[in-house]
Amino acid sequence: MRFETNRDVLDWYERQPRALTKEFIGKIVWEDVKKYPLDEKFIPVLLYMRDVETLTDMYYDELRRTPTGKDPVISRFMERWSTEEQTHGELLNRFLNEAGIETGDKWKAQVKKSVSNFYVANTYLLTSLTNLVGKKFTATHMTFGAIHEMSTTQGYRRLIELTKHPVLSEILRAMIREESAHTHFYWSVARLELKNSEFTRKLARFIVKNFWTPVGSGAKPKKESDYTIATLFDGEEGLDWIDKNVSQKLQRLPGFDGLTKVSDKISEIVLSQTSVA
Ligand SMILES: [Fe+2]
Ligand SMILES: [Fe+2]
Repeated sequence: MRFETNRDVLDWYERQPRALTKEFIGKIVWEDVKKYPLDEKFIPVLLYMRDVETLTDMYYDELRRTPTGKDPVISRFMERWSTEEQTHGELLNRFLNEAGIETGDKWKAQVKKSVSNFYVANTYLLTSLTNLVGKKFTATHMTFGAIHEMSTTQGYRRLIELTKHPVLSEILRAMIREESAHTHFYWSVARLELKNSEFTRKLARFIVKNFWTPVGSGAKPKKESDYTIATLFDGEEGLDWIDKNVSQKLQRLPGFDGLTKVSDKISEIVLSQTSVA
């Protein structure tokens, strides 16, 4: 599907129904969670993903301070987007609780508190720098968003494959439907913005090439992020998955021809983790 304007992308997005409706959530058979085994090694992965989903809020607050976040089309998208990511975090938390992992009432506050001061200061600085570049930075933001959404989607797909837990799979499949709509929004707006100017394309490619790190790294300790990536994308199959579903899609954006940054970074992390083990 090719759009002519950002508004068309938003109209498309708004026509997509939510996958995680109240009705869907109400029908989840939580009592069944304990009936199926869940390998312990996936617990830190689920906690990491829960936290990243929950921290979307913080990213949203930051982005609202920039010209990207002030754009009426993007801010309208982001309002629904951040609500959906919150639901994802909450469902993952509930799943962990039902599986016997206690997280306590204050888990959300704890997740937000644990983000390092360095990260907060650094993000603040980045936002201020972004404001200097202004509107021209929107394409970069949108490209980052697209990569994050695509890699999250692949993470969930791998989690379904590896855990084979029926209740978790059902939840993740619905989450994936929402992540795919997010990807489509970010990717399509990025494409339109990148088409606009050569400066924008060069800037976006430069920033992704030099500064992209996996979703959640920075806000969460590197150790946790690396563990999650290595657990999900270990082996040739995992890396192929990233190449096919993230890198190749990214390369289709104007100015991103041949960029293998995401695959390179993921394989570097997987290799470093395998050599530790
Ligand atoms: Fe999500
Ligand atoms: Fe998402």
